[in-house]
Amino acid sequence: MSVRPNLLGALLAILNLALIIFVGAFLYLLFGDNLVETYRNQPVPMDQATYRSAGGRNSVDAEEEIVNGIHVQSGLIYAEGFDIVRGNCTACHSAKLVTQNRATREGWTDMIRWMQAKQGLWDLGKNESVILDYLATNYAPEDIGRRANINVEEIEWYLLDLEE
Ligand code: HEC
Repeated sequence: MSVRPNLLGALLAILNLALIIFVGAFLYLLFGDNLVETYRNQPVPMDQATYRSAGGRNSVDAEEEIVNGIHVQSGLIYAEGFDIVRGNCTACHSAKLVTQNRATREGWTDMIRWMQAKQGLWDLGKNESVILDYLATNYAPEDIGRRANINVEEIEWYLLDLEE
């Protein structure tokens, strides 16, 4: 007689367990996906830096893109001194004014002196030599109008036949 209550108790326990599992499974089917999503894709509050490092549209990566040695955003040649030039020479006007010009170191010095005298360009301090190096190297005068001397010996002369 003492077996029965135990058996009943065991049965009830099993039933209880089955009910808990059933209800648990039911709830999981209903809300499980949401729960998993909630914990997996927690929206992280994004500040600008996170957004940029995540490759957002206005990311620094896009701003700093270099293609064929040209800094795309400014159009400046990406070379030594670039950062200092961009920092000082694009504050008042487009970098186009720089990239459209070519001059010797003296010529660039003159332009800088002119801007300092007339346009409020600040004293460039020790950056000036870096800037001038950059400009004189990357935006030196093109040798327009100069060509190699003609070697008269090598020219194959021919007569124009004007009678035809
Ligand atoms: C404080 C403002 C300012 C800064 C900074 C500045 N410029 Fe200028 N720059 C001017 C102004 C104003 C002009 C005249 C713009 C115009 O003609 O439309 C000018 C014109 C120029 C021109 C055209 C000159 C010409 O003869 O047509 C060049 C090249 C130039 N700047 C280069 C530079 C370089 C290189 C730097 C960095 C060292 C620089 N600028 C920084 C104000 C500035």
